[in-house]
Amino acid sequence: MRLVLTEDLKENMTLAKAIYDNGNILLNKGVKNLYKYKDKLLAIGVKHLYVEDEYSRDIKVDEVIKEKTRRKGKAIIKKNFEKIKKGVFNIDIEGFKSVIEDIQAELEINEDVLLNLADIKATSTYTYDHSVNVGIVCIALGKILNYSPDDLFKLGMGGMLHDVGKVLIPEKILNKPDRLDDYEYSVIKKHPQLGFEHLQQLETVSPLSRIVAYSHHERVNGSGYPRGQKGNNIHEFARIAAIADVFDALTSDRVYRDRWPTYRAAEYIMNNTETLFDYAFVKKFLRKISFYPNGSEVILSTGDRGIISEQNIGFPTRPIVRIIEDKDGKKKIKELDLIKHLNIVVEKVIL
Ligand SMILES: [Fe+2]
Repeated sequence: MRLVLTEDLKENMTLAKAIYDNGNILLNKGVKNLYKYKDKLLAIGVKHLYVEDEYSRDIKVDEVIKEKTRRKGKAIIKKNFEKIKKGVFNIDIEGFKSVIEDIQAELEINEDVLLNLADIKATSTYTYDHSVNVGIVCIALGKILNYSPDDLFKLGMGGMLHDVGKVLIPEKILNKPDRLDDYEYSVIKKHPQLGFEHLQQLETVSPLSRIVAYSHHERVNGSGYPRGQKGNNIHEFARIAAIADVFDALTSDRVYRDRWPTYRAAEYIMNNTETLFDYAFVKKFLRKISFYPNGSEVILSTGDRGIISEQNIGFPTRPIVRIIEDKDGKKKIKELDLIKHLNIVVEKVIL
């Protein structure tokens, strides 16, 4: 399968990964003549999707965390966020426990597989997709750091609840597609404090999870909020969640901008270590994600255009590329292993 822009759907493309809208299946894997659904997909904010075509039939996109588990996570987050919005002070801790255990088990099974978060996310369900992804990345990083299962639960729970305070912000400000003015921005910036205060009322939520909601916008150079804490004064759970939060936000389609390719988001995080993000955690994080996920379309330094077809474990920037077109736009099919051709690099990621 390969990633394409919904905008560029063509007649001979078949859907390779099911699309869900609010937990319900909207289009199933295998649906043909996808271009018929273009307008509907764009209307719910699906800007990218995975298809199968003549070039990509045998390319597999690894799933470290099963779609079923992610959906389970999203459903639990949605249910609990809605309760909090209504001012109800209880939380389905068992539900969170069960999904976090599933995530831990799947990370264990796929230990050598790089995380690919470039999944299909509709802008309309961003909050829940994002919350579950931040939880997954936090747990993955916690595992590399050899955290105990109990700490992984608290960190994962913190990741999933990090933005809970946003449900207490007026939707008009939260979903505004244009630039926020100073007042609106100051309202948004209250979400860590609001989330923390709500979680404090919930005895079953560990203080270590609450701290993630409170401090995930703190930055190591002191430029973050709400307290402007610096370096190790920011709890390490929050320093981990900050990386997960920014990385997933950048690689997600939003109403006001398209997703960044993974390598660009990774580069942004890398360029801001020591200023915004914790160096030691960034180093570990970058070893766990695939820079050029399978199915991405790229242009090589030779001018050839291709699709990433396989990863070389331990070499995240040197995957195997299926060339489909030469620099003059002529069809050319050839598998090129970038480990064997060190003089060739990925010059541009199209998707
Ligand atoms: Fe946030």
